[in-house]
Amino acid sequence: MIKPDAVANGHAGAILDRIIKAGYKVVALKYTKLSAETAGQFYAVHSERPFYNDLVSFMSQGPIYAAILEKDNAIEDFRKFIGATDPAKADAGTIRADFAKSIDANAIHGSDSDENAAIEGNFFFSNFERF
Ligand code: CMP
Repeated sequence: MIKPDAVANGHAGAILDRIIKAGYKVVALKYTKLSAETAGQFYAVHSERPFYNDLVSFMSQGPIYAAILEKDNAIEDFRKFIGATDPAKADAGTIRADFAKSIDANAIHGSDSDENAAIEGNFFFSNFERF
């Protein structure tokens, strides 16, 4: 997901361009907005964490781009490509180092496992929306 902060700041196009140039195939792409309810469902795995309410509120404040990406070793490579969750700790040249402002407004989300990538892809896309 390209998060509401990056969309609002006009960075979505630059981020997508970097993703494609880094060799990820875009299998599905959608511009949409999460409600508090759907953001809560998407991040249900974090429901016991202290930052959950702020996360849900932030993620439902504006539109996002959701995507399914494909590449060899995509999970690990994409997490390196986007940088640490906290942009202050993200390596230079990563998406979060270049576009994120804070741990909440951190520009982009990447799935942390193949299993979660399947769950998160199914959250946004039907089989008719994947190419
Ligand atoms: P994301 O990769 O989308 O997964 C969960 C999000 O929770 C994370 O990025 C951050 O934007 C947000 N978050 C806020 N505080 C924390 C924290 N202390 N640890 C991890 N994630 C956090």
